[in-house]
Amino acid sequence: MKAKYLHAKWQKAMRLRLDYNNMMTEFVGEEQGISQGDLRAKKDVITAAFEAVRAKRGTGMMGWTELPYNQKEVVADILATAKEIRKSCDAFVVLGIGGSALGPIAVMQALKHLHYNDLSKAQRKGPKFYVEDNVDPERMKALLDVIDVKKTVFNVITKSGSTSETMSQYLIIYDLLKKALGDDAAKHIVATTSENKGNLIRLAKQEGFKTFYIPDGVGGRFSELSPVGLLPAAVVGIDIRQMLAGAAFMDKLCGETRLRKNPALMSAALSYLAMEKGKNISVMMPYADSLRYMSDWYCQLWAESLGKAENVAGKIVNVGQTPVKALGVTDQHSQVQLYREGPFDKVVTFLAVDGYRTECAIADGCEEIPDVNFLCGHTLNELIDAERKATEYALTVSKRLNRTIYLPEVNAFTVGELLYFYEMETAFCGEMLGIDTYNQPGVEAGKNATYALLGRKGYESTRKEMEAAKAKKDEYIC
Ligand code: PA5
Repeated sequence: MKAKYLHAKWQKAMRLRLDYNNMMTEFVGEEQGISQGDLRAKKDVITAAFEAVRAKRGTGMMGWTELPYNQKEVVADILATAKEIRKSCDAFVVLGIGGSALGPIAVMQALKHLHYNDLSKAQRKGPKFYVEDNVDPERMKALLDVIDVKKTVFNVITKSGSTSETMSQYLIIYDLLKKALGDDAAKHIVATTSENKGNLIRLAKQEGFKTFYIPDGVGGRFSELSPVGLLPAAVVGIDIRQMLAGAAFMDKLCGETRLRKNPALMSAALSYLAMEKGKNISVMMPYADSLRYMSDWYCQLWAESLGKAENVAGKIVNVGQTPVKALGVTDQHSQVQLYREGPFDKVVTFLAVDGYRTECAIADGCEEIPDVNFLCGHTLNELIDAERKATEYALTVSKRLNRTIYLPEVNAFTVGELLYFYEMETAFCGEMLGIDTYNQPGVEAGKNATYALLGRKGYESTRKEMEAAKAKKDEYIC
């Protein structure tokens, strides 16, 4: 029988909606807002970006556009591997950073129980799940305090196979595994990396690790729909085929030539125009705990892809928009004051959910205190929705640009749509800005400086440059 998510009617019901009313002059005024005229004036830039993405898709570093379609065999392998892991181990730990960690965290949070690791084994039906995306020694110790390496599978994820953070974690863990398990240690490592380059693939071959490949044309921050994200998701029981179907559905929408019908192109055009109007900050504010780490994933995608010194012609442009994460309603009591009254330098994007996966009634009580009692008879669902609408209203009347992406519900299909939507928006926006969306010289500079400081061979000159840098003055330290 055809899976539910493959039915056109169901897919249509699960379509994400972009509401950009409050980006427009009619709602936030001439001075701050974007007009139909502004969009018309940029028609050529928008069309050129659309055409460029269409022409480049599937080539160069745009291999990610094909992930919803070209992974039939690898998905079967992932599902078989995940099944074994679910049966045989108590914990599954991702060792990775940046694009090799943020997607798995976001998808896990979106699609599994919000206290997944605290559930009993019978309730979880799979291993506990951890993502170690830092090299804080206290965090490593804390992990080792709560897992038994003998009953854990470690998924080492690094496209380059040389990232210091990930490789240092690998060294620590593999050493522990060998001490605890001898020859069986290799069975506890799954490597996700480039097929033909880097150190991890060499090690994987030498040690005999189970390996999944990150295609050459898929960069770290665009890799969530590759084995980078699919294996961790499958291990915790997420329907990865449904996620890919959601991405494919969004891909079709993003292929629409009419701007008004193409949500990612429209969103990119609005972001681009907002940047031109000095909106240098992009806040993502989901009104759902399940989507809170989508903001971290988005922050990396937007910041690393669009924050560039040079355009493709080599001209210094120093473009980009600083992404900020916020959570509704939590940050109404923290950041919204600034968003409403501070500088006119932001666009706020709300993520709204039409149907939460549960309903929670607010109990009766406090009859003698009407200021509390008005809540009774309502649900938390109504409260969170009212608070989102209230924040949207408050920002709009203060002429603050905001838009809302509605998810009919949070499921594997809509999460696939959302991921792909943002990847496409980023691709379109990068073209509009005329930059290389897929490089990250700023990140590489930091990586190289770390290698130099720790004495990696080949980085002697970087070390010399660093040593020659101006010494800090004591008088500026108090
Ligand atoms: O998007 C990127 O390319 C980076 O953020 C990488 O994901 C990050 O630096 C980790 O790199 P790697 O997967 O090579 O370890």
